[in-house]
Amino acid sequence: MSEIGLREAMSTLRAVRRLRPDPVYDAVLGRVLEAATWAPTGGNRQPWRVIVVRDRAAVARLGELYAERWRRFAAGYEKGMKSMPEAAAAQSRKMLDAGDYLAEHFADTPVVAVFCFNPKEMAITDAKLDRISVVGGGSVYPAVQNLLLACRAEGLGCTLTTLLCECEDEVRELLAIPEPWGTACAIPIGWPVRGGHGPIRRLPVAKMAYADRFGAAFE
Ligand SMILES: Cc1cc2nc3c(=O)[nH]c(=O)nc-3n(C[C@H](O)[C@H](O)[C@H](O)COP(=O)(O)O)c2cc1C
Repeated sequence: MSEIGLREAMSTLRAVRRLRPDPVYDAVLGRVLEAATWAPTGGNRQPWRVIVVRDRAAVARLGELYAERWRRFAAGYEKGMKSMPEAAAAQSRKMLDAGDYLAEHFADTPVVAVFCFNPKEMAITDAKLDRISVVGGGSVYPAVQNLLLACRAEGLGCTLTTLLCECEDEVRELLAIPEPWGTACAIPIGWPVRGGHGPIRRLPVAKMAYADRFGAAFE
């Protein structure tokens, strides 16, 4: 196990979409999964499970479903790039190329972690508001983030993907996910083809954090 610090892991955790087909050993996977279990959940109900998909036929089928959706997403995204400044478009081009690689090689991904959640076990405090509810996701995605960070610490490449949620019924059938469980994301995991994780581009604290009132500058 590598010994990188938490801040280094957090500040270099990025989407790594080019993965080698080499196996990921159980001991490594075990550590990564254990990190996921440490995440907080509403009322500590822990209403999530993760399916560690390694069966080649199942990964290949997930890959077919993913590629269909990625192609549609990428075509739409590419249209939007026409109005982007040059530097942003170049960055997006890189992302799309890496995304194409993932879609084309999904079947060779050694592990796909599919996170599921049980909505019946969630205290969803914003369910009745007149907008999309997000609170339920708060009992799943901290576990996802722990897993991503643990992958990063191990040197494993990974990307949080959600395109497969569009075809939840097919995924449910393929992986024998019972009702009322839903799917939150699928994370392809493997050893990186290139450098793997590294520098990330994010908005600065000054843009993201406010003092006392929304919009008030945080010095
Ligand atoms: C909710 C969510 C959904 C995402 N879905 C996908 C996806 O389906 N496919 C994909 O390639 N990346 C997906 N991503 C990864 C983001 O595109 C990526 O984190 C973002 O572009 C920042 O890139 P970076 O982490 O490499 O800096 C998703 C990320 C999040 C948080």
